[in-house]
Amino acid sequence: MKLIVTKDYEEMSKVAAKEISDFINSKPEAVLGLATGGTPKGLYEELIKLNKQEIVDFSNVTSINLDEYIGLSGEHEQSYRYFMDHNFFNYINIDKSKTFVPNGLADNIDLECIEYDKKIAELGGIDLQLLGIGSNGHIGFNEPAEYLYMGTHQTNLAKDTIEANSRFFKSIDEVPRKAITMGIGGIMKAKKIVLLASGENKAEVVKELVSGKITTEVPASMLQMHRDVVIVIDEAAAKFLSLHSGEYIKSSSGL
Ligand code: F6R
Repeated sequence: MKLIVTKDYEEMSKVAAKEISDFINSKPEAVLGLATGGTPKGLYEELIKLNKQEIVDFSNVTSINLDEYIGLSGEHEQSYRYFMDHNFFNYINIDKSKTFVPNGLADNIDLECIEYDKKIAELGGIDLQLLGIGSNGHIGFNEPAEYLYMGTHQTNLAKDTIEANSRFFKSIDEVPRKAITMGIGGIMKAKKIVLLASGENKAEVVKELVSGKITTEVPASMLQMHRDVVIVIDEAAAKFLSLHSGEYIKSSSGL
């Protein structure tokens, strides 16, 4: 696990953008697993700039997103398809037909999940998976539970998640209660993982992620077992780690 602590959100976004653009430059046809939410917005803005400056080229990249709300169409402003189009894909030279987000309106959600995993396999797996983290320890929408799932599945959102995500909706009643999410297995199979966290409200869970026990009650703690994880966090999110300011790199061998 490599840990990079940055001064603030802006620097976190820049460092993560460099990590991802360097990766694409070393593998132009990379399959990127992507995330939504407040945290990666700055990163997407940075990648858009790098693309405009021709420092990174998305023309051969394929993307596959982690999750989508069940019941929202891709045109709904809070759907994750809409988020990706309007915060990223519309501004870069990616081929939209090579961007995948689960269909939250599929007639048969279980079948949609099976097809999604087939799609990931057909693509040869995910090369680099971008993650945020919920303050309850979720990654994707793998919520704290007694057990976790390998593959893509439908899930009930945790109360904490519904509350946290209500900031994007007019009222909490509008937040969907269910989502499709890639499973922990799908995430762990990615060759490389880049996780971002920003702000004091993530500090406790970041401590669990980096040095807590590995438990399904903190799904992100599973990442301690991955061989190639880069965690980019700002100082506020690093508050409970005993670190100094500036860039800090902690290495551990992983499996
Ligand atoms: C989003 C996702 C979620 C978010 C997490 C943090 O696609 O999979 O796990 O990464 O809820 O969200 P923010 O960044 O809004 O704090």
